[in-house]
Amino acid sequence: MKGVSGSKSLFFVCLLLALVGVTTVYGQGTRVGFYSKTCPKAETIVKSAVESHLKSDITLAASILRMHFHDCFVQGCDGSILIDGAGTEKTARPNLALRGYDVIEDAKTQLEAACPSVVSCADILALAARDSVVFSGGSSWKVPTGRKDGLVSKVSEVILPGPFDSVEVQKQRFLDKGLNTQDLVTLVGAHTIGTTTCGLISNRVYNFTGNGTPDPSIDSTFLPTLRSICPQNGDASKRLALDDSSQTKFDTSFFINLGRGRGILQSDQVLWADASTKSYVQRFSGMRGVPGLKFNQEFGKAMVKMSNIGVKTGAADSEIRKKCSQFNPK
Ligand code: HEM
Ligand SMILES: *[C@@H]1O[C@H](CO)[C@@H](O)[C@H](O)[C@H]1NC(C)=O
Repeated sequence: MKGVSGSKSLFFVCLLLALVGVTTVYGQGTRVGFYSKTCPKAETIVKSAVESHLKSDITLAASILRMHFHDCFVQGCDGSILIDGAGTEKTARPNLALRGYDVIEDAKTQLEAACPSVVSCADILALAARDSVVFSGGSSWKVPTGRKDGLVSKVSEVILPGPFDSVEVQKQRFLDKGLNTQDLVTLVGAHTIGTTTCGLISNRVYNFTGNGTPDPSIDSTFLPTLRSICPQNGDASKRLALDDSSQTKFDTSFFINLGRGRGILQSDQVLWADASTKSYVQRFSGMRGVPGLKFNQEFGKAMVKMSNIGVKTGAADSEIRKKCSQFNPK
């Protein structure tokens, strides 16, 4: 008897968990289709704005994807990165190279015409990041929406993982935001598109430990290529692909390159040196003998997790901005 009622209550607990799971999968108050009644065209408008800009400059895709990451890691995904002015997040060093703010503003202008004061800038950025991945050849995913825009944007709060960070530090930065080791490797896979500068890798390429030799983890047959792209004491602002030979295609070659010592950023290449991160790199690379993991699928899932960091919905701490680059006038 005891066993029967035990399994019965177990059944109801499972049923309850399943129901809760169905209605609050994303937590934080976001859900897929948040604007389906209030602004049915919201997602279409964002997509067409993104596509019209990306058609003339595909390199904006990488920047918009990175912008969403930098937004979410500081004050949560609340559009705080979009605010103009002295001392805002935008002025922080890692954000100086970001481009594509006009893409978000353009979508906002169209949305204000269609459904004024309904769609947040934070949501526009989350949707635009997804659309940028899709436009670059990646798989799509459903973006939960319903974020509101934050009221704080301070340069002093911008703390992001950096290109010289160890695996330990990278893992900790992600853990601080509720993201695990798999999420880290998956999301860094965003480096399958986009570029960095010679200035950030010249130490690896010429003088890694201060004794005039390169980082030994660089493939020796790749080193001459890197040196010809980035000559010693040359232009530090010259840009090169983060995923050699495949910088505009959202694919798994970034991971395959790490396995061959062809990562560009030091923080990326070390993911191959640490056992806990290497196993994911191998799995995404489709390496023989390891259980495969589909990058495209996992990326969407990890992006949904990232896009739910610190979501704001309250009247006291958030609003729907009329212009993405400015807080609403009081
Ligand atoms: C440990 C984590 C990470 C580190 C240390 C890191 C670091 C960097 C650095 C140093 C650059 C080059 C910037 C420049 O030279 O202008 C870069 C570019 C980029 N990052 Fe990351 N990143 C990390 C995670 C992510 C995540 C989670 C995403 C998105 C989901 C992302 C997306 C990108 C993209 C797309 C670019 C290329 C930007 C462009 O071409 O304009 N990164 N990252
Ligand atoms: C390498 O860096 C060290 C320490 O910063 C410096 O003393 C040395 O001159 C550099 N060597 C070369 C070849 O640039």
